[in-house]
Amino acid sequence: MKYKILGGSNTKFSEIGLGTWKFNPNLEEASKTAKYMFENGVNFLDTAEMYQNESRLGIMLKEMKIEDEPFIATKVSPNNLHYNDIIRSCNESLSKLGVKQITLYQIHWPNHRINIRETINAMEHLVEEGKIRYIGVSNFDQKELEEALSYLKSYKIVSNQVEYSVAFNEIENSGLMDFCNKNKISIIAYSPIGRGMVENYKYLYNELHEIGIKYNATALQVALKYIISNKNVIAIPKVSSIEHAKEILGTEKFDISKSDINRIKDIADKIKKPLAGKILNKILKANGCWSGIMERHERLRMERD
Ligand SMILES: NC(=O)c1ccc[n+]([C@@H]2O[C@H](COP(=O)([O-])OP(=O)(O)OC[C@H]3O[C@@H](n4cnc5c(N)ncnc54)[C@H](OP(=O)(O)O)[C@@H]3O)[C@@H](O)[C@H]2O)c1
Repeated sequence: MKYKILGGSNTKFSEIGLGTWKFNPNLEEASKTAKYMFENGVNFLDTAEMYQNESRLGIMLKEMKIEDEPFIATKVSPNNLHYNDIIRSCNESLSKLGVKQITLYQIHWPNHRINIRETINAMEHLVEEGKIRYIGVSNFDQKELEEALSYLKSYKIVSNQVEYSVAFNEIENSGLMDFCNKNKISIIAYSPIGRGMVENYKYLYNELHEIGIKYNATALQVALKYIISNKNVIAIPKVSSIEHAKEILGTEKFDISKSDINRIKDIADKIKKPLAGKILNKILKANGCWSGIMERHERLRMERD
């Protein structure tokens, strides 16, 4: 497993972490998969207040009894970005996860109804208090990041968690990736294997499959390799079984040539990006209330499962 320093921090994160949105509701299977990944070099997991699974993950981590505790990355919901709400959310996450410190605390989405200065002040206070080690953001575009950076007094923003895969490589061309590189902000790629649906992009899939033959790798492994071959990027695929975990971790077993990276980029650039995503993004950012609906939805789903 390769490890990368996150942003301007001094902590090495595995370039593949474990995403847990809609993580296997069967705690025993989830635990086996997570343990397998941690024993094979993965050193962090990503969750969020909105996923409504922090308590379950806390139980899972406690029962797992692994030598090196993984780093925990979680996120505060966009409806909780006022100062006092963040402090309360952070305390709740700490208690649910059963840890003394959250390694990376991320602002899940910008909420344009709440002044980001207030949010950043609260995040810095949490670092000061030792409740979180690093500050991260998620779904921030360059303008939103610039504004957030301008309010920092003592600490850094070490990462921006954004959607990034061969099927959705917008950050490469929007300037966001360059901006993050210049400012020593790591990219945490979410949905890095295209929500497991790379196969739906027939032309892309065929090309990835063909490239994979010479590396003895699958199309999915080539897709993930493309993302993490960038030195400022780590990825958090969601994996619910050991079988899937083995394929994901197999991505570490080969190197990919620069010419194949360029070939994949050419194909990725040609994929039509859904316009609905852009419009939805705007609506979500303009109004943090939707996360309350998401949280309720997730809670009901977890209770049902
Ligand atoms: N910050 C944000 O706003 C945000 C938004 C979305 C996601 N995220 C984070 O990113 C994580 C990952 O994103 P994601 O879940 O949307 O998409 P993803 O990781 O790209 O894809 C997950 C899907 O791929 C499947 N998969 C995994 N390994 C596979 C394999 N070897 N073969 C075939 N299918 C495989 C999974 O199935 P199984 O589960 O059955 O293994 C799951 O259906 C989330 O869990 C969450 O932590 C963050």
